[in-house]
Amino acid sequence: MDTTDLVLAIAHHVLVFSLAGIIGAEFVLTRGDLAAATLKRLAGIDRHYGIIAVLIIVVGIGRVFYGLKGWEFYVYNWVFWAKMTAFAVVGLLSIIPTIRFVSWNRQASASPSFQVPAAELASVKSYIRAGAFIFLLIPVFAAAMARGYGY
Ligand code: HEM
Repeated sequence: MDTTDLVLAIAHHVLVFSLAGIIGAEFVLTRGDLAAATLKRLAGIDRHYGIIAVLIIVVGIGRVFYGLKGWEFYVYNWVFWAKMTAFAVVGLLSIIPTIRFVSWNRQASASPSFQVPAAELASVKSYIRAGAFIFLLIPVFAAAMARGYGY
């Protein structure tokens, strides 16, 4: 038994489920009434998105190097790289929503009559939907890679 592997696996799962929750929250909140309080909440949630994503990278790399199977198990496996690519795409798709949330929150704080422009909201929703869809592929790749598919 290896405690390091266990702790890393627990942390990885907790962080990954937290990120799924955050993506779900952003998905739902951008479909409701975008009052100033909601925009503030979205900006706050999105900050946690960034923090959790960074922690997932740190813990994930920890699993590669300090996990039971050894780094060679992953780096020669194309399913592992498909999972990394999917995660990178999810990250890239989150950039525009982050920029918009910060900007909307700032404008709503400065002017109480601020309304989120419909075109900007539509594009943010598309980015969140696309990111959520790609995110769903990651556990598929993860389960396959963990079982040795991909050589
Ligand atoms: C830089 C990012 C990431 C790295 C380096 C990474 C790395 C790893 C590693 C090394 C394992 C262990 C697999 C094994 O037992 O052999 C693993 C498992 C897993 N990862 Fe990640 N991961 C990352 C991001 C993510 C994300 C964003 C998700 C989101 C769904 C995720 C979901 C999972 C799941 C569900 C497992 C368990 C698979 C299983 O045992 O069936 N990972 N990951």
